[in-house]
Amino acid sequence: MKLTLSVIKADIGSIGGHICPSRQLLEAVRQHVNQYSNKLLRDHYISATGDDIAIVMSHERGMADPAIHKLAWDAFLAGTEVAKQQGLYGAGQDLLKDAFSGNVRGMGPAVAEMEFEERPNEPFLFFAADKTDPGAFNLPLYLAFADPMNTPGLMLAPGMAQGFRFVIMDVNHTEGDRIIELQAPEELYDIAALLRDTERYVVESIWSRASGEQAAVVSTSRLHNIAGKYTGKDDPVMLLRVQKDFPATGEVLAPYAIGPLVAGAMRGSHQMPLMPVRLDSGISYFDGPPIVSCAAFAMHRGKFTEAVDVFAHPFWDSVRSHVADKAQEIRRQGFFGAAMLPMSELEYTGIMEKLDRLNGRFIVRGSEQPQRTVAGKKKRARKEEGVLLG
Ligand code: F6R
Ligand code: MG
Ligand code: MG
Repeated sequence: MKLTLSVIKADIGSIGGHICPSRQLLEAVRQHVNQYSNKLLRDHYISATGDDIAIVMSHERGMADPAIHKLAWDAFLAGTEVAKQQGLYGAGQDLLKDAFSGNVRGMGPAVAEMEFEERPNEPFLFFAADKTDPGAFNLPLYLAFADPMNTPGLMLAPGMAQGFRFVIMDVNHTEGDRIIELQAPEELYDIAALLRDTERYVVESIWSRASGEQAAVVSTSRLHNIAGKYTGKDDPVMLLRVQKDFPATGEVLAPYAIGPLVAGAMRGSHQMPLMPVRLDSGISYFDGPPIVSCAAFAMHRGKFTEAVDVFAHPFWDSVRSHVADKAQEIRRQGFFGAAMLPMSELEYTGIMEKLDRLNGRFIVRGSEQPQRTVAGKKKRARKEEGVLLG
C-alpha cells in the first residue's frame, strides 16, 4: 500500500515567552484536525516540543497535497485565534503569509514528507527539535547512516552494505532548492566537509542505495529567507523509517547521547548542547537548552500504534544531566568566542546597527578621518541621486 507520511509544524504562540503552547491552544489544533480529517487522513498524531506544535499525518494523497497542507494550515489558524485570546507570546508567529496558496512550504510552517510502499511492518520515528535549526540533525544522521563505529548494521545487515545516498541542501540559496547528492561510503569526506557547516548545508533526505527506498526526511525551511528578517529559529522536524535495510532504532538514537553543540537557545543566537527530552517537554535554562524529542510508532495500513516516548527511558537521565553540565560550562564564557553564533546567524539586528555606528567612530591613525557608516553612505547616495535627478 502506497502511503505518505507528512509532518507539518509551527510555533503559533506559547506561555511564558517561548516555553510551550497552552493546553487550550493544543486542544484547538486537535479539535480542528479531528473535525476535518475524516476523509483525508488514515491517521494522525499531534504533539508539542518546546513551543512548537507538530501534526504527523498518514494518508494516500501523495506529497505536497493541497488538502493535507490546508488542513494543517487551518488547524494552526484555529490555534492562533486561541493564542490571541489567551495573550500567548508570539501568537501566530510562524504563519508568515496571509492567504493559503496550496502548499505551506514557503509560508512559515516546517514540512517533512515522504511517500513509500508500506512494509508488512513499518516502524518509524518522528523527531522534533526546538530552539535550534535543521543543521542540528546533521551529525546524528551522519553517524547513524555512514559510520560503522555508531551503526554496526553497516557491517552486519546485507541490505545496508551498499550504503546510503545523502541529499544535502544549501539552505542559504534563496532562489530555489540548491541540492547535491552524495554517496556514502565512497564520498564520506565530501559529506563531512558539507555537514560540518550546519547553518548552510543541511541533510534533506537519505535513501537506501540497495533498494532505492527513502529512509529519512528533514524539514529545511529557513524562516528569515521567507520573512526577509529573523522571526525565530527554524525548529526542525524529521521522519525516519527504521530496521531491516535501514538503521535500527537504537543506531539512530545513539548519537543523541553526545549532546552536540548546536545553534540556538537564548534569542536564537548561541551555541548550546542538544538535550534529548521526553515528549511534551518545555524550555527552561537560558531559553534552552535546545531540545529534541522522539516518538516511535509502528504503522499498519496507515494506522499508528500509540506513540512510544524513546527518550523517557532511564538511560537518557544521565545524558540529560551531562548535557545540563555542558550547557552551564559553555554559558560560563557568556558572549565570548564560540559561545555565540557568527554575526550572520544572530537573530537580532541590534548588534549590526551597533557595529555600524561604532564603525563610524573608527579612525585610521594619521588620516584622522572617521570611517563612513553603511547607513551614512546610503543616505549620501540618496542625496546625490536626488541632486542628479533634481
Ligand atoms: C524558537 C524560539 C527562538 C526565539 C528567539 C527570539 O522556538 O523561540 O528562536 O525566536 O529566542 O525570541 P524573542 O526575541 O521573542 O525573545
Ligand atoms: Mg519560539
Ligand atoms: Mg520553537
